[in-house]
Amino acid sequence: MPTATMTATTSFGQMNGILLVGGIPVDRLAARVGTTPFFAYDRELIARRVSEVRAALPARINLSYAVKANPMPALLAQMSALVDGFDVASSGELAVALNTPMPANRVSFAGPGKTDAELRQAVAAGVTIELESANELARLRTVSEELGIGARVALRVNPDFAVRGAGMTLGGGPQQFGIDAEGVPAVLAEVVGAGLDFQGFHIFAGSQNLRAESICEAQRATVELVLRLADAAPGPVRYLNLGGGFGIQYAARDRPLELDMIGENLADLLENRVSRELPAARVVIELGRYLVGEAGVYLTRVVDRKQSRGTTFLVVDGGLHHQLAASGNFGQVIRRNYPIAVATRFDAAAEETVNVVGCLCTPLDLLGDKVSLPSARIGDLIAVFQAGAYGLTASPTAFLGHPAPPEVLV
Ligand SMILES: Cc1ncc(COP(=O)(O)O)c(C=O)c1O
Repeated sequence: MPTATMTATTSFGQMNGILLVGGIPVDRLAARVGTTPFFAYDRELIARRVSEVRAALPARINLSYAVKANPMPALLAQMSALVDGFDVASSGELAVALNTPMPANRVSFAGPGKTDAELRQAVAAGVTIELESANELARLRTVSEELGIGARVALRVNPDFAVRGAGMTLGGGPQQFGIDAEGVPAVLAEVVGAGLDFQGFHIFAGSQNLRAESICEAQRATVELVLRLADAAPGPVRYLNLGGGFGIQYAARDRPLELDMIGENLADLLENRVSRELPAARVVIELGRYLVGEAGVYLTRVVDRKQSRGTTFLVVDGGLHHQLAASGNFGQVIRRNYPIAVATRFDAAAEETVNVVGCLCTPLDLLGDKVSLPSARIGDLIAVFQAGAYGLTASPTAFLGHPAPPEVLV
């Protein structure tokens, strides 16, 4: 088995050479689902990951799940019992979140370009709206007055620093996200008298970061920035969302995130800065990928095996239309293979180097580039790991008209 597979798959068990998800052999699971390809998410791994995060972070930290990572309703229902809040980014995600037992006042709605209709739904639901611009504040005020409800608001701030080491940076420089830190006092002045229920601040500086020290640095800079901004706030800061950005390992050379270092940094920040200066603040860490990414597998069946001028191709019934990120076409600068394995020969040694390609008519549809695998036959199941976050939800399912894949939570 190649090393990339080893690092990412040790959490999943195997029985008689068949990969287990949720304790079920995947060939049996495929029979239960009735079709391939499909996504399978492991409940136990999700619960375990949340416990690990809770154990590492100070007890006072509220853990929020970023629904964008995986909005499957059943997963969200499970998550509602495990975390303290949900972050949503559209009316669709809001609707799924509100269908769980999570209280509305623990749901926050961030994202640029919220429409008036979305603002109306959010105000009526009673969730916290994270304002992304002065214009959004004006529209929210109107909606709030029409409904006669003082909307719960927080300001999303575009910080005056950028985080190092993030796969995706959402702060520093010009951004469509949040209100520039230097413009925040003026917007806060507008919040006063607008009849809105001011909660606090949200700063999300980046995503997919494996460097704990740079996450710690961003958290320290975030707290200092909020302490400065709080002087202009219309009331006590009751909500302080420090973002997240915890990364997971996609390639063999990725090192796992040092969670303990982040926990210690947060404990220090809480004790020495937040508790003293912002005693009323509910401090939130917002995570998507880190909570669910490693708990998901995309399972797709080999439908053809062919040679072309010295290269062996395994052609599967899935592809980038379901799992775009694994093909390297979802924001990656350099394409790297996601961990991949023959799920129905999971204990066999690697015997050959193959290209695993999807069923779409495009050379972009590459799930494994020159990967070392046991010799797979037509009918074998291929597992693409790290598929629990930004898998189906971030894929162009309509492309080329194939059916959408089922998802199961087991
Ligand atoms: C505002 C906000 N919150 C949370 C997330 C989730 O990030 P991740 O899934 O990497 O934890 C993102 C991702 O872009 C985001 O923009």
